[in-house]
Amino acid sequence: QENNQDTDENTDSGVKYYTREEVQAHNMSKDTWLIIHDKVYDITSFMEEHPGGEEVLLEQAGADATESFEDVGHSTDAREMLQQYYIGELHMASLRLTARTSLYANWKYWNGFLMLNLSYVRRKTCLK
Ligand code: HEM
Repeated sequence: QENNQDTDENTDSGVKYYTREEVQAHNMSKDTWLIIHDKVYDITSFMEEHPGGEEVLLEQAGADATESFEDVGHSTDAREMLQQYYIGELHMASLRLTARTSLYANWKYWNGFLMLNLSYVRRKTCLK
């Protein structure tokens, strides 16, 4: 039976999904969750051990820390440490929202759209 439980943890059915709102509720020093690359981590027990200090983690508590985590350029060791605190994935609805928001906020997307129109107008008006 123990073996069964082990394999269960590795299958999709065992994965827990959290919304951004649920993660947001865990924003205290005695109850701290973080989102990094769409995965949710309970880092409560790690706060005092963090080589970069407790303060920076508290600033990100309950929020998406992907950018700040990457900005620091954390080592492979640091990335592997993350696994210990993994508790689940970001809920699909929260994922879709960010994907759509970032597409429309994406400068390249609008620029591509603009250039396409410009080249069409140029062709129609015989301008070079
Ligand atoms: C659970 C998530 C995190 C883990 C497991 C983690 C782990 C570590 C580790 C092991 C180091 C030592 C250097 C290295 O190995 O790269 C470190 C350094 C550092 N971390 Fe994190 N970290 C996490 C999240 C964050 C976040 C979200 C921030 C920023 C808001 C941050 C800021 C820093 C800074 C500034 C240092 C540099 C300390 C120094 O060089 O003196 N960390 N972290």
